[in-house]
Amino acid sequence: LRALEIHGSRGDSSVVIGRDLLNRPVPAEKTIAITDSTVRHLYQKDFPPCEVIEIGVGERVKNLDTLKDIHERLVGLEADRSSFILGIGGGVVCDIAGFAASTYMRGLRFGLIPTTLLSQADAGVGGKNGVNLGGYKNLVGTFNQPEFVFCDLNLLRTLPEREILCGFAEFVKHAAIADLALFSYLEENHEGAVALEAAVMERLVHDSILIKSSIVNRDEREEGERRLLNFGHTFGHAIEKATGASHGVAVSAGMVIASRLSVQRGTLAPDDAGRLEALVRKLKLPTRITVNRESVLDALSKDKKKKGKSISFVLLQAIGRAVLEDIPIEDLEKAAREVL
Ligand SMILES: NC(=O)c1ccc[n+]([C@@H]2O[C@H](COP(=O)([O-])OP(=O)(O)OC[C@H]3O[C@@H](n4cnc5c(N)ncnc54)[C@H](O)[C@@H]3O)[C@@H](O)[C@H]2O)c1
Repeated sequence: LRALEIHGSRGDSSVVIGRDLLNRPVPAEKTIAITDSTVRHLYQKDFPPCEVIEIGVGERVKNLDTLKDIHERLVGLEADRSSFILGIGGGVVCDIAGFAASTYMRGLRFGLIPTTLLSQADAGVGGKNGVNLGGYKNLVGTFNQPEFVFCDLNLLRTLPEREILCGFAEFVKHAAIADLALFSYLEENHEGAVALEAAVMERLVHDSILIKSSIVNRDEREEGERRLLNFGHTFGHAIEKATGASHGVAVSAGMVIASRLSVQRGTLAPDDAGRLEALVRKLKLPTRITVNRESVLDALSKDKKKKGKSISFVLLQAIGRAVLEDIPIEDLEKAAREVL
């Protein structure tokens, strides 16, 4: 068992990484779990004894309609200020359960049990929650830390390969922006990672959360350094929107584009960009995706991080060091024409 702490402005969060964490005693007499249908089907037998609110599966349910359904179910279950919300699921469940808890009766206590690799390594940790609106991801939400995040590595055994790959992309992201040692570990242990070896996965999830929690402790509300966690995500989100590719696949191609752009702009040595590309390949993630370039450029021009005619973009300076730069959209479009 390993534990890390996040100190949020509205409360602290304790992140525990281990096994057999699902069936811990409930934190309050009236605990209500929020989960999706897949996770419920697989794991309800191991849930702590409590009421369950089930939502549909995937990104398409991460919206205000589902939030309203959850709020109405909470009313039906007579949830009150003493109730505790337990989100059990992937990033979609964690984001919406955290938001439902933060808004119902002006805020209930809540905790998360992330069940995908992406949500353990990234989405479940850090206190950002919310839903999509009008084609924009995570447009409505709050910063509010869960009381705890239990990352139970046993739950990863039932994950399909494509979901594992999404988690790998976030490992690469965290290592590339902040931790050369983790990057080297990934290079040396990529086979163990692909085989989901217990000790390798434990170290990767732990180190990934350590990087994210340290950044969140310094910049909870994403006013500066936390934006570095968007490495690979500007092009990644645009590719995801334009092609419907899964998040991890799109972000890995986005990281390769961002590292090439870093070379073009003179911040990164070509060898380091090559190293990143090689690691992405070793982890069985794509370095390139066939896309309709114009639809990616269109999605790019609607990016949330757009400020006037430029986008706050994350470049690499070295493996393990990143920097934010406002890059004119036309430069990004030019770069995209060269690499897409
Ligand atoms: N809040 C944040 O800081 C943050 C950071 C990164 C991503 N996100 C969000 O996270 C979401 C993506 O999360 P995700 O990749 O976990 O997707 P997801 O929640 O849609 O889960 C992916 C799929 O895996 C299934 N699943 C979950 N756990 C399983 C298990 N143990 N075994 C088998 N199947 C399982 C789910 O039912 C779903 O079909 C996006 O909405 C993204 O915006 C949030």
